[in-house]
Amino acid sequence: MILSIESSCDDSAIAITEIATKKLIFHKKISQEIEHSVYGGVVPELAARLHAEALPKILEDCKPYFKTLKAVAVTSSPGLTVTLIEGVVMAKAISIALNIPIIGVNHLVGHIYSLFIEKEAIFPLTVLLVSGGHTQVMEVKSLDNIKTVAKSMDDSFGESFDKVAKMMHLGYPGGPLIQELAKDGDRKKYNFTVPLHQSPLIAFSYSGLKNSVRLAVEKAEESDYKDIAASFEHIATAHIIQKLKRYFKEATPKNFAIVGGASANLYLREQIEKLLALYGAKLLLSELKYCSDNAAMIGRVALEMYKKEMFSSLDELKVCPKSV
Ligand code: KG4
Ligand code: ZN
Repeated sequence: MILSIESSCDDSAIAITEIATKKLIFHKKISQEIEHSVYGGVVPELAARLHAEALPKILEDCKPYFKTLKAVAVTSSPGLTVTLIEGVVMAKAISIALNIPIIGVNHLVGHIYSLFIEKEAIFPLTVLLVSGGHTQVMEVKSLDNIKTVAKSMDDSFGESFDKVAKMMHLGYPGGPLIQELAKDGDRKKYNFTVPLHQSPLIAFSYSGLKNSVRLAVEKAEESDYKDIAASFEHIATAHIIQKLKRYFKEATPKNFAIVGGASANLYLREQIEKLLALYGAKLLLSELKYCSDNAAMIGRVALEMYKKEMFSSLDELKVCPKSV
């Protein structure tokens, strides 16, 4: 079995996955949403301290499996340096204590494999990753053949929901809160501009939209917030749909997936489903519980890396805040 650890942002999670069957034997996650909610976003130092408390607690429950472990895997990039370190230090200690190899997993590859928990992977696949840290489109042929074809030039899709929620004093994470508020709102009430709509670039940008929403919020009454939320969600999604349409002219996929925490967004799912129907492409989604950060997806990648003996030495394995 492989034990995997995730601590790249504000979720402390550990999973144990059986190598031969891909079965998830154990998975536990402690989220820090309540603690960060008062600040309207993740406070890195607070997150690191909470990981230092939560990870050892979860590890206690894994003790019965220690004898069966063949490797330990951990998210080593990208993410917040101070929180990644908490997971990596724990993984190194386990590697030394149990004398098993260590595997450093890329968090973004983890989100891709969240589609395949306890399943065989299906490639080639075009993947839209929408999370708090990323908005990007990737062409995935295999574990080590992943090409990013579009990414955000500034804020991410999920982050813009978090920031809009903060402007409205709704709490954190903003995605589900804005989605809920938008349900009863008028999507056409505020005529925000679709980002980069005149640009031929296949890229994303959310900072301009965020600022337009800020101006609207400043002028609005609280009773208008639902319409602002609905109009914002509509334009944030329309931006992705426009850019995907442009990209599909060059490369129409047979299989298309949405992954990452913000892939839980129902309006985005609905609009992408409509778009894919025009091209006869199939939509793949992760189970809702594996959309947001978790250790099961890190364990699923680790299975593939274990087979290929993609181990790191303890000295080599370093945390890296940016994706490499
Ligand atoms: O993948 P994830 O758990 O963490 C990162 O790797 O960033 O994604 C968290 C992000 C947050 O920004 C959160 O607001 C967003 O996903 N999110 C949503 C929804 N649920 C979560 N955004 C839009 N709509 C949602 N329903
Ligand atoms: Zn993530």
